[in-house]
Amino acid sequence: MAEIKVTKCSTLTGWRYREREKVLWRRGGRAELKHGHKLCLLCSVIGNFFFGVNLYVGPRGLWKWKWSSDEVHIQGLSWSGRAAVEAELAAAEACSGHGRAFLDGVVVDGRPICECNTCYGGPDCSLFLPSCAADADRGDPLFLEPFWKQHAESSAVLVAGWHRMSYSFGDQTTFLSRELESLLRKLHSLVGNAITDGKYIMFGAGSTQLLNAAVHALSPHNSSLPATVAASIPYFALYQMQTEFFNSADYSFQGDTMQWKNTTNTTGDIIEFVTAPNNPDGQLNEAVLHGPNVKTIHDRAYYWPHFTGIPSPADDDLSIFTISKLTGHAGSRFGWALIRNEEVYKRMNTYLQLNTMGVSRDTQLRALKLLKVLVKDGGREIFEFGYKTMSKRWDKLRKTLSMSTRFSLQKIPPENCTFFQKVRDPTPAFMAAYAWVRCEREEDRNCIEILKAAKILGRGGSVFHDNNRYARLSLIRSDDDFALLISRLGRLVSQEEGAKIM
Ligand SMILES: Cc1ncc(COP(=O)(O)O)c(C=O)c1O
Repeated sequence: MAEIKVTKCSTLTGWRYREREKVLWRRGGRAELKHGHKLCLLCSVIGNFFFGVNLYVGPRGLWKWKWSSDEVHIQGLSWSGRAAVEAELAAAEACSGHGRAFLDGVVVDGRPICECNTCYGGPDCSLFLPSCAADADRGDPLFLEPFWKQHAESSAVLVAGWHRMSYSFGDQTTFLSRELESLLRKLHSLVGNAITDGKYIMFGAGSTQLLNAAVHALSPHNSSLPATVAASIPYFALYQMQTEFFNSADYSFQGDTMQWKNTTNTTGDIIEFVTAPNNPDGQLNEAVLHGPNVKTIHDRAYYWPHFTGIPSPADDDLSIFTISKLTGHAGSRFGWALIRNEEVYKRMNTYLQLNTMGVSRDTQLRALKLLKVLVKDGGREIFEFGYKTMSKRWDKLRKTLSMSTRFSLQKIPPENCTFFQKVRDPTPAFMAAYAWVRCEREEDRNCIEILKAAKILGRGGSVFHDNNRYARLSLIRSDDDFALLISRLGRLVSQEEGAKIM
């Protein structure tokens, strides 16, 4: 990392010192050099002490954070010094390991405040709030936050004030970074989870934007018969919510695929959402509907080695991915679609143009920087990290619920992982991003309420159009959230009458 100096004067450092040394040596001034060494050492100690103290507590010290630009000097850098110092200061807030401070967070006394994990509070997040409910509701992918803290240097982005101000990229015709596009193709080929040859790539503000763009592109236009949109229960609620919200004359949501499975004489188009692996239950779903009037959107948000085995590369007509569940950067809102058909690509492109004029160029830069970290070692480190974290969590969850007769977990068939075969012993994946819990007792018809009474927040089965006997628990949140979830589940199970003894 570059050395931060808060000073206008300079000491003899680096090459200048070495040059002087060489000259003195050539002149035969060995004695002078010996004394020079001592003098320099003394100066250096005094100087470092002075600047060290000044750096933190001086009139314009780090903690007071009010420097003029000529006082902030990072060796070899000009305009980025202040931004780097600000970013490092926010990142340096430890928040007791139960939170983090952000550059754009609320500033108190000149410093951004700690934003604490659920169930932690106080100015430095050191306060545990014992009566707070364990949060296993949203699929917030903070399980990967420690990985990015370990890779702070390679993943950081510094954005100039004039970065890509234009509506378009240099070629004036597209809204996307060609560099990012080629990196995505490379990533898929390294991981082996999708074939990109012969496919167009489209970026979206998260996969959320692309899901509706795809429905729009696959629907007939100006037809008296809108396309039927369907998904297999249990399905991700957003498909239905979005389709109904946009209320288009070209498509309408018609529920479960099963009701269309045996309908051979449908004249209209059908668009099937296939989620593989599925949210909520982690199954590697396949298309249920087939035929000349059926079009399929494969939602591949979780088709990465930290959530599932990758038996073979997907070669779908239209598949949608997101960095939210790949790198964990849900807040950056970046997703992409792989599209085989040119006409479908053009229609999705029109949607993106009219909707947001493409994806924020700042977001594209961020995604580029993050994906470079992945591609550098072929994804080995992040997927090893993600896989280990998720499999440890699943081990703990299975162990906790193995003593229960009241709650059961979904069965996940083992899938071979072609990705890990390349980098280590093949281990079939028995895990998923979410636990799909079933309340087994006859009287426990509303599983989420049973969990809520035990201070555990999750999502009820009906949200996924399934039975309320099921509840989804998110396993991809922060370490704190997961630890509290296991502790609360453990307590609940231990209170069971007739719980199995370990
Ligand atoms: C199956 C599935 N698809 C899409 C999304 C939306 O992801 P994004 O953050 O990219 O909009 C999610 C988010 O949880 C999801 O679970």
